[in-house]
Amino acid sequence: MRRLLPYLAYLKPVRGHFILALLCALIYGAANGVGFPYMVDKVLPKIFEPTAARLTGLELLLLALWMPTVFTVRGVSGYFNTYLIQYCGVRILEALRLDFFRKLQVLPLSFFQRQNSGDLMSRALSDANQLQHTLTALSNEIFKQPATLIGSIGFLVYKAYNERGIILVLVCMAVIPLCVLPIRFIGKKLARRAKQVQSELGSASDVLNENLSAAREIRAFGLEEREVGRFSAVTGNLITYQMKAVKYAKALNPAIEIISGVGISVTLVYAYRANIPWNSFFAILMALYASYEPIKKLGALSNDTRRGVAALDRLEMVLNAPVDIADPAQPVTVGRLQGKVAFNNVTFAYKAGAPALRDVTLSIPAGTTCALVGPSGAGKSTFANLVPRFYDATQGTISIDDIDVRAMRLADLRANIALVSQEAILFKDTIYNNLLLGRADATENEVHQAARDAFADDFIRSLPHGYDTVVGERGATLSGGQRQRIALARAFLRNAPILVLDEATSALDSESEAAIQQALKKLVVGKTVLIIAHRFSTIRDASMILVFDRGHVTDCGSHAELYARNPLYKALFDGQNQS
Ligand SMILES: Nc1ncnc2c1ncn2[C@@H]1O[C@H](COP(=O)(O)OP(=O)(O)O)[C@@H](O)[C@H]1O
Ligand SMILES: [Mg+2]
Repeated sequence: MRRLLPYLAYLKPVRGHFILALLCALIYGAANGVGFPYMVDKVLPKIFEPTAARLTGLELLLLALWMPTVFTVRGVSGYFNTYLIQYCGVRILEALRLDFFRKLQVLPLSFFQRQNSGDLMSRALSDANQLQHTLTALSNEIFKQPATLIGSIGFLVYKAYNERGIILVLVCMAVIPLCVLPIRFIGKKLARRAKQVQSELGSASDVLNENLSAAREIRAFGLEEREVGRFSAVTGNLITYQMKAVKYAKALNPAIEIISGVGISVTLVYAYRANIPWNSFFAILMALYASYEPIKKLGALSNDTRRGVAALDRLEMVLNAPVDIADPAQPVTVGRLQGKVAFNNVTFAYKAGAPALRDVTLSIPAGTTCALVGPSGAGKSTFANLVPRFYDATQGTISIDDIDVRAMRLADLRANIALVSQEAILFKDTIYNNLLLGRADATENEVHQAARDAFADDFIRSLPHGYDTVVGERGATLSGGQRQRIALARAFLRNAPILVLDEATSALDSESEAAIQQALKKLVVGKTVLIIAHRFSTIRDASMILVFDRGHVTDCGSHAELYARNPLYKALFDGQNQS
């Protein structure tokens, strides 16, 4: 439970509601724990005792009203307590999800390569939900039930002590400590199950997520049955763990009821022996019963808490994940950079011990078009991804205009870089807004000019709503070439001094590619360009070519120089020109 306390801070914005809810809980507790036993003790005898005085009509009415009054007070306070607490719970959930989502925005890319997106989704939705449930239940019952318990035990002690002294009190209370045993035992079992359930939910949403994103491949390869099998396997596991959790959770109430039944029967026997009048005895019974109820609820609450802590563990995996790529404490202020990119003894490994880039030292003068060439897996994309700090070098430094990239604010650094990769991702929005992502403050004219420069204007205007056409998720309603041209138009708009083109033309048909080549010629002017391209036609004009081989940069020169002296380069070039 201590684990959950820091998160009660989320209640701050709704403290007014929360305090009101607590007041209602106290009223509820008093009505519940004292109201009924008191009625049995004091009201019923006036009506049923043969020796009682005759009642006037008004007195009878007042006595008869006792019951509906207790019910009304309890009902109304219970209602407002629940309503207000639910309101607080929903607000907690909202704040928590937002914190979670905000954290996802700043985590380094490497985090997402380690985690499955379906599992992250399940954490954001289902675990946050579980935690909300727990916090609500906790804040709801944690005052209401103890209030009831104290009310009823107080009444019990008072009553029993007045009847027969301390012995009767002890008899009545004897079994209460016994109730703690099943609460503890079941709680421990449940904690493990709860975590398994949440993690199975994560696996199920992984499978679902992967399935949805590969709808085409599944049909093409005839994987439908295999996918159904995979999904049914994870949901099967989910059900198994859920039922195990139910098995323990639902055993708690009967266990406590049986124990309290024993307590009541012991009291009954003692009361008979001791000749306690029936109304006192019933009042004691009611108070006893009223005190077992909160124990049952608090037991269930302890189970809820364990589920909540399991969910919290899963949320904290994200909330507390280190953000190791972040702004420096004292950033160097940079505006628009010139674009001289230098690597100094840079080694980088995705996984310790297997560097993807080894001891790279080189300098690319501002305004140079620099092509990166090498077999697939040689480290070209890795090299390009280190410049905008998608990853940080394991050793060595990377600088732009002789300023270490780690000394700049991330936003400043990245504002100086435009990136076009093989897969152009669009958001589900209008084409115009998608273009505007390149530079949020661009004017309409600039947006249109950028589209013209990227040879995208014509096809955009031919769409049913032109620039206001909404594209599907990830841009699914456009062709690859069209998406790529929109990505290029963004790069035109961004007009950053450093341009990274990572296989930007690889996935295109030859018509699109011709248009994009044209666009690129204009785009690269005056910029430092890192270009990774499939086709040598794109790169032979580059003024600087770097040859990558198994993480090393093995050579650097112009096309003519490298073709003459570098066997790997010659082999790659000839291999492509033959085919
Ligand atoms: N996210 C990643 N996690 C782990 N290893 C990776 C990751 N990306 C690339 N690698 C590995 O790093 C090496 C270089 O990859 P990459 O830079 O993408 O090559 P290239 O772009 O030249 O084809 C390869 O061995 C690849 O398997
Ligand atoms: Mg690559």
